Amino acid sequence: MNDRVPRETTDRAFQSYGRCCNDEAFFEDFYNIFMSKSGEIRAMFTSTDMAEQRRLVRAGLMWLIMYARGSQGAKIDYLARTHDRSNMDVDPAWYTVWVDALMETLARHDPEFDRSLEMAWRETLKPGIEAMKQSYETVQ
Ligand code: HEM
Repeated sequence: MNDRVPRETTDRAFQSYGRCCNDEAFFEDFYNIFMSKSGEIRAMFTSTDMAEQRRLVRAGLMWLIMYARGSQGAKIDYLARTHDRSNMDVDPAWYTVWVDALMETLARHDPEFDRSLEMAWRETLKPGIEAMKQSYETVQ
C-alpha cells in the first residue's frame, strides 16, 4: 500500500475518528448539521432510513481514511458510482458542504480538535473526495 497522504497526517485523523465514531450522537449531529445547510440536501434524505444511513456513513468515512493510507480504491469507486450524476446525482459542489459539516461535528465531539487537526482531516479526506468528484460526469 502506497500512502496517498503522509502517514503521520492520516494517523491523526484516524485517532480522532476513533475518539468519535463509537458515539451514535456523532453521526446524528453530523446529519443534522449537514442537512441544516441546504433544503436541497435535506430533500435528498426525506425517504432515507437514517439509522441505516448513519451505519453506512460510519464505514464510508473509514473507506476515505483507508484510501488516503493507500487502499486500492474499490470502495471509493463504489461510492463514486452511487453518488454520480446518473445515480444519486450529488453535485460536486456539495462535497465542500459535507466536509465543512463534518469539521463542525468533529469540533463538537473531539476534545482534541483544533485548527491543526482540522487541516490533517481535510488533507486525509481529499484524495477520496477528489476521486468521487471526478467521477460525477462519468458515462456508465
Ligand atoms: C465523501 C463524502 C460522502 C461519503 C463518504 C458518503 C457515503 C455514503 C454511503 C456509504 C452511502 C450508502 C451507500 C451508497 O448507497 O452509496 C451514501 C448514500 C447517500 N449519500 Fe452519501 N456520502 C458522501 C457524500 C454525500 C453528499 C455530499 C451527498 C449530498 C447530498 C450525499 C447524499 C447521499 C444520499 C442521498 C444517499 C442515499 C440515501 C438513501 O439511501 O436514501 N452523500 N453515502
